[in-house]
Amino acid sequence: MNRGNMRQPLIIANWKANLSPGEEVERARSIAQIAVERGLSAFNGIDIPTLAIAPSAVGLVPVASLLQREFGSLAIGVAAQDCSAEGIGAHTGELVATNLVGIAASVIIGHSERRAAGDTDNSIGRKIAHAAAAGLRPILCVGDATQSAAIEARVPMVVAQFGRATMQAAAAGWPLDRLVGAGLIVAYEPLWAIGSHTPATPMDAMAVARGIRAAVHGHAIPVLYGGSVDAGNAATWFDETRAEADGALNGLLVGGASLDPRELLEIVGAATMPRR
Ligand code: PGA
Repeated sequence: MNRGNMRQPLIIANWKANLSPGEEVERARSIAQIAVERGLSAFNGIDIPTLAIAPSAVGLVPVASLLQREFGSLAIGVAAQDCSAEGIGAHTGELVATNLVGIAASVIIGHSERRAAGDTDNSIGRKIAHAAAAGLRPILCVGDATQSAAIEARVPMVVAQFGRATMQAAAAGWPLDRLVGAGLIVAYEPLWAIGSHTPATPMDAMAVARGIRAAVHGHAIPVLYGGSVDAGNAATWFDETRAEADGALNGLLVGGASLDPRELLEIVGAATMPRR
């Protein structure tokens, strides 16, 4: 991934726990083969969106090795869906960040489905710190649960959630400026938009992006949107937000629609469409 390049949309395919590792390898192969057919030579070049696949924990190694071994020139990235709040040691069942090195380049942290399964601001902060210390790019998910409230009321809630997680990361030795240097990405994912076919509006996502950037005092921090993104709405996130630097989105976190290789590549294509 090209750290710090704000012009380059980043599309992350979050496959959650939808597929077996064998299916994940086959889907990754299809994505790479379709990309080759379409003449997409690399996903990390200037002005070409960066694509990263986030398979399940057991799919990480086979998917990463397939992409490295057979499709290395495409430079499709691999992201983990989570990592441990602990480091190497006696932590049965944990997926420690240092063990992801060489397999994944980034880690989704604090996804609402992980928060529902027990993640707290404290554990999220420690996960961010461990990911950054391992040289992995943390992708911190934040989101509000209240679609009915006005965006002016929701933005401070989301910014506060971001602030609590990053304060905990700071307490674990990773203050914001170090995290920005480590390539911290924020993904705005309103809970009600996830898997609901009811995305937020680009204007709402832009308001959140603006709020996050104001809270980090001018640090150049990439902000993604996630929640019911599909091939039909993918372009709108960039078309409608690009006019304003502070509110611009830097990419998309895609769940359900990313399970279909053709649709995922349409989303990638939408992110490169010439802007109107
Ligand atoms: P969705 O999921 O695209 O299926 O709404 C997004 C996510 O949870 O990351």
